[in-house]
Amino acid sequence: MHLLINNTNHPLDLPPHTTLLRALRSLGYFSVKHGCETGECGACTVLLDGKPVNACVMLAAQAEGHQIETIEDLGERAGKGWRETEGLHPLQQTFVETGAIQCGYCTPAMLLAARALLARNPRLYSTANPTEADVRESLSGILCRCTGYVKPVQAILQAAAILRGEKPTPKPGIPAPPEFYPPPDEESQISNLQSHTNTQTRVLPKIATTPQTSEWKRVGKPDPKVDAVKLALGKPAFTDDMELRGMLYAKVLWSPVAHAHITHIDASRARALPGVAAVLTWQDLPRVVYSTAGQSDPIPGPLDMFSLDHKVRYVGDRVAFVAAETPEIAEAALKLIEVQYEELPTLLDSAAALDNATLLHDEPEYVNFAESDPSRNLAAHIHIDIGNVNQGFAEADHLFEEWYEVPKVQQAHIEPHVVITYWDEDDRLTIRTSTQVPFHARRILAPVLGLPIKRIRVIKPRIGGGFGGKQEVMVEDVAAHLTIATGRPVRFEYTREEEFIAARSRHPMKVRMKTGVKNDGTITANEMYALSDTGAYGCHALTVTGNTGHKAMALYVGDGKYREKPNIRFVADIVYTNTPPAGAYRGYGVPQGFWPVERHMERIARALHLDPIEFRLKNALRQGELQPFSTAWSEGREPSPETIQTNGLEECVAQARAAIGWDQKYGNKHWRNSISNLKSQISNQQSVMKKGIGVALVMQGTAIPYLDMGGASIKMNDDGSFNLLVGATDLGTGSDTVLAQIAAEILGVELDDIIVYSSDTDFTPFDVGAYASSTTYISGAAVARAANTLAEQIRERAAKIFNSQHPERRETDGLTQSKDAGRVEPHDITLADCRAYAPDGRFVTMSEIGHHSLHKEDQRQLMAVGSYVSPVAPPPFAAQFAEVTVDTETGMVTVDKLVMAVDSGVIVNPLTASGQIEGGMTQALGYAVCEEMVYDARGQARERDLRDYHIPHAHEMPDLTTIFVETFEPSHPFGLKAVAEIPMDGVAPAVGNAILDACGADLKIIPATPERIWRASREYISP
Ligand code: FES
Ligand code: FES
Repeated sequence: MHLLINNTNHPLDLPPHTTLLRALRSLGYFSVKHGCETGECGACTVLLDGKPVNACVMLAAQAEGHQIETIEDLGERAGKGWRETEGLHPLQQTFVETGAIQCGYCTPAMLLAARALLARNPRLYSTANPTEADVRESLSGILCRCTGYVKPVQAILQAAAILRGEKPTPKPGIPAPPEFYPPPDEESQISNLQSHTNTQTRVLPKIATTPQTSEWKRVGKPDPKVDAVKLALGKPAFTDDMELRGMLYAKVLWSPVAHAHITHIDASRARALPGVAAVLTWQDLPRVVYSTAGQSDPIPGPLDMFSLDHKVRYVGDRVAFVAAETPEIAEAALKLIEVQYEELPTLLDSAAALDNATLLHDEPEYVNFAESDPSRNLAAHIHIDIGNVNQGFAEADHLFEEWYEVPKVQQAHIEPHVVITYWDEDDRLTIRTSTQVPFHARRILAPVLGLPIKRIRVIKPRIGGGFGGKQEVMVEDVAAHLTIATGRPVRFEYTREEEFIAARSRHPMKVRMKTGVKNDGTITANEMYALSDTGAYGCHALTVTGNTGHKAMALYVGDGKYREKPNIRFVADIVYTNTPPAGAYRGYGVPQGFWPVERHMERIARALHLDPIEFRLKNALRQGELQPFSTAWSEGREPSPETIQTNGLEECVAQARAAIGWDQKYGNKHWRNSISNLKSQISNQQSVMKKGIGVALVMQGTAIPYLDMGGASIKMNDDGSFNLLVGATDLGTGSDTVLAQIAAEILGVELDDIIVYSSDTDFTPFDVGAYASSTTYISGAAVARAANTLAEQIRERAAKIFNSQHPERRETDGLTQSKDAGRVEPHDITLADCRAYAPDGRFVTMSEIGHHSLHKEDQRQLMAVGSYVSPVAPPPFAAQFAEVTVDTETGMVTVDKLVMAVDSGVIVNPLTASGQIEGGMTQALGYAVCEEMVYDARGQARERDLRDYHIPHAHEMPDLTTIFVETFEPSHPFGLKAVAEIPMDGVAPAVGNAILDACGADLKIIPATPERIWRASREYISP
């Protein structure tokens, strides 16, 4: 067989069933990605005779005789030594400049789809001038879990303009003016009946800059990501983009039953299959109890898992591991393993599982943490009492009590979990893995594998999205055990179905709210009980559900004397069930809390005829007040009182309500009924389409105080560039870029003078990893410390040079001075423009300093290490608004607009930060209206692919608006707070409140499916 790829002919000798995806990757075309096996994610897109096709569902043989295009040939990095290159293709350039690349896993596919669109567009439109709808349609087959599609669409429209010979406006990379969002024109808001997107004219978010930031050169600037070019070029940056000689392929035998003892297991036939290198069952491995949760030591949860066990606890639990020469042989071997199960009663409902006689965990090795109690199927229990809740209830004029429910949903990162393990030349086990927590993984795996930490090296290459799903150690031990068993490299990657049945998810919860309120809207006491389902294992059980109360219940403290001494109670039971374990997912328990809290607040406001925004702000936490939970709870560790130093919530509300036109729309019957449909036009009756608007206020945290720790080291090179090594892990969030911006700001150099490397347990400093919205805050402070220390060394070296070598150089007047005139002290030197300036204007360049320190005099390496752990976790705040249209005949809801105004402190990079908000709101949109994991009575998953589990596509998106309201958080050298998780929190309740506003459907449960809305709207009695 021959394949013609990028105009190069490749002879191939492959089995006939080989897919085009596998064939291309085996030839080194690693830009073609694997995200599923069923043609749903689009990550494997290539062009076949100019048309996009999914290479995963096409046989290589079918592509013979056709022209195949991948992005390996699309463009080149400008400046490759002495050879001239044409540089990036305009599409690649605009993807880089507009911030369209987050994790970059979907980027090659998007670029090819766009290339196909722009190539065929002239025939369709006579000029290459696609509409935004054309662009969204062209991307509709490619799933992106990171960006919310806003910036990729902008990038493609701008590339089309460039290709037409136009200058796109506004120019990429130029921020919007630093002004508050202007109030919308009343008329245009009222007449703007159909939601539409406005991508071409909105590149960057509006920012209300704080005065402190105006002098900065790099922090606060929309710099393109430092790793964007390699991702736009489709370079082999990800875990699986490599092959090792002699590599084996791992597969796992998953339990077909939800709860059973394995009474017999025989792997002899599988082991005898030619091509099988190893089969491991529980009988072959040491019995080491551990937790897969990638958290600091000691892990704040029970130890309740084994690599392989003689009991299975959910459909998808592990039964055996196989390593073979090919994936097909490994798959065949799984079928030859004989297993007998003695089935046990299946517990799928958390309420039924609590205190049930059937126990999931009766193993003697179980290690309790805090109040876990396996004899009650209880992985954790939390009881927090602040103030006197009962007295608060007694003093209330009204008591409101209701149950709410949130579903189990999945992170659905497009790159599956994937790992490659091998022994290096020193017989140290190298684990190349797509993980958020390389250092935790090393520590957790050491006892499981029977190796000391010093004999394990974890390398984190580029990650194709994580969102908390990769804050677990789930695939690494499988491959590592098989490498230990065989001595050979082993690759293990989840299929998409395995992602659904065996990976982690968001904890589903049933939540009861009880709130006491005075007639004037003062909250006197607030209580939440959360029944949380951790699934079969207790990874993240305590900490996720703790956050549900710690953040969501902290926002409303009451007013007057109740504000001074709030009455808040949070109680939670986190229960084992026979379902796949829940874990970390962006927001980490807080979205589960804000659905009930914000729906409850809306119901109270409406019941008491209070303005929903005024009611919320009257009771909301304010600057200078104590985070009420900070005295009571801290993820299983000692709490420490914490005062809110910055809170831009009121300004967020003002900005967002203006941006969405709240004042014109809320309570406006004309606006609510302003959408006509065909039926209403024909019959001249009132339309069944109703518009609604809703609000939710939210807060999150920034890292975990006294626990999250980040480290960084920086060394200076002899050309004045710097290597920045961080243990932090960039999941696509842009953290490598913002850390480089912080270093560049302090060192007074350009961003491309900072070469970032993250992370490798052998080379980079320790960092807890990417979670808890901690990277920019914690690792950023560590970078700032290292950079400040290094800056001191640079100033000392510069002073030495000034005082000995360069008496004659002045920048301003060029006057010659005598050698002894004006001795310079280090503290008088300023670093800027890649130079060190003396007070009199003389300067030495960074490259002169680097060269001097390494080659000339008193030689030494200028370098520094910094680390940081924070005593506080300053919360970001946000106002989230949603506008919807409900078809009251079918219950179908369309979310037309989402506006989010966020106080995340100083925004280090508006491009990457707004990308975080857009992507987070998009994930939250799925949580609000369509995502849900459901199990049948035997514990079998209903959702097993990305067709049944629907995540938002490019052509389904509402208009997204992000507004940053900057405050200067004094606990951080650059005044910043977290940005990554807060967009998950408010979308669902804002949408739920908008649905209520539209049609009276008072939803207690998400997702807001048509059936639920239809039923709930039938219960509504119109006032
Ligand atoms: S990998 Fe081909 S569509 Fe998902
Ligand atoms: S950037 Fe699209 S999946 Fe990550």
